[in-house]
Amino acid sequence: MMITLLKEKFKELFQSEPDFYKAPGRINLIGEHTDYNDGFVLPAAIDKSVCFAVAKNKVNKLRLFAYDFSQFFELGMDELKITNVQWANYLVGVVAQFQKKGLKPEGLDCVFGGDIPHGAGLSSSAALECGFAIALNDQFGFEMAKSELVLMAQKAEHEFAGVLCGIMDQFVSVFGKEGQVIKLDCRSLDYEYYPLTNKEVDIVLCDTKVNHSLASSEYNIRRSECEQGVKIIQSKFPEVKALRDASPGMLEEVKNKMGNEVYRRCHYVVHENERVGKACEALFKNDFSTFGKLMFNTHDGLSKDYKVSCTELDVLVDIAKKIPGTLGARMMGGGFGGCTVNLIKKGKARNFISRIEEDYTKRTGAKIQTYQVKISEGAGKIKL
Ligand code: GLA
Repeated sequence: MMITLLKEKFKELFQSEPDFYKAPGRINLIGEHTDYNDGFVLPAAIDKSVCFAVAKNKVNKLRLFAYDFSQFFELGMDELKITNVQWANYLVGVVAQFQKKGLKPEGLDCVFGGDIPHGAGLSSSAALECGFAIALNDQFGFEMAKSELVLMAQKAEHEFAGVLCGIMDQFVSVFGKEGQVIKLDCRSLDYEYYPLTNKEVDIVLCDTKVNHSLASSEYNIRRSECEQGVKIIQSKFPEVKALRDASPGMLEEVKNKMGNEVYRRCHYVVHENERVGKACEALFKNDFSTFGKLMFNTHDGLSKDYKVSCTELDVLVDIAKKIPGTLGARMMGGGFGGCTVNLIKKGKARNFISRIEEDYTKRTGAKIQTYQVKISEGAGKIKL
């Protein structure tokens, strides 16, 4: 459906035949705010994505059309810069990364659109970057490895959107596999797939539709608080290069040298890394009850120690806990709004959705949006 619409629009705007690409959004089951601490994460790609219709042009321009906003944008290929059109920055940022590598993409036309809700913490921006990086790589035959494209997409976000994000979102958008979650070591980028299909549990997202403007500045602050923590730990344990290397015991030994806030941030991250390991063991044994408990613990840490939650997210987790069939629930992604991810016993999702929608409105007067998602394939060219 989306492809047909993009194709028609592409023909109308550029009078040529495009190729099609697609990149998914993501969920993260556990391992939050661990990626930029060189730690572990457990994300998966979902069945919500951005689609791209793309073809080269002969006018040496980047010509973009955002279908969902009905907005056109163009820039000369030799004058790429950050602009005040936010969605365009992600794509311009990607082209700039190819240029930085000494590669010279020529003019390109692109119409894109999709169904990843914006600002919901499902990484629509990473999908935009990754899908476009794959499209450019393919159109110009640059033959960059997928892992390199992931790093370039992350750089685009750092340099053109100003968010010093970790590698998780871009990695999973590219390496996602149907029915599999990825355990990713964010230091070495080694990864392992673990099966998790909809036959076992259901995954429901509850979107608060709250999108605090604080999110990106607070994100960068958390990152620097973690770095401060590492410096203090290093004064006693020089082998610690990132919080991933610190054990709870090490942290306690230097606790008195740290301010309370930095201590609590580090405490959360060090324990969250351990939780990812435990969650993978549980997943391996199909022990979803243990897995879910770990998710609740993560939420507690994110809310009380890492302080990236908000009232709406806390209310959703509190309600979820009381609904029969809920195995685990927690806020997901950067925080300060967006979604909770809920692990629900097979067959109980419908009941969960109607209960949480109703109870949330009773408690807050506001409405949430719910999505039951499937774990899907990563980014690539669409074969028609
Ligand atoms: C955002 C970032 C990721 C990661 C999460 C928190 O989604 O883009 O790199 O840090 O927040 O886990």
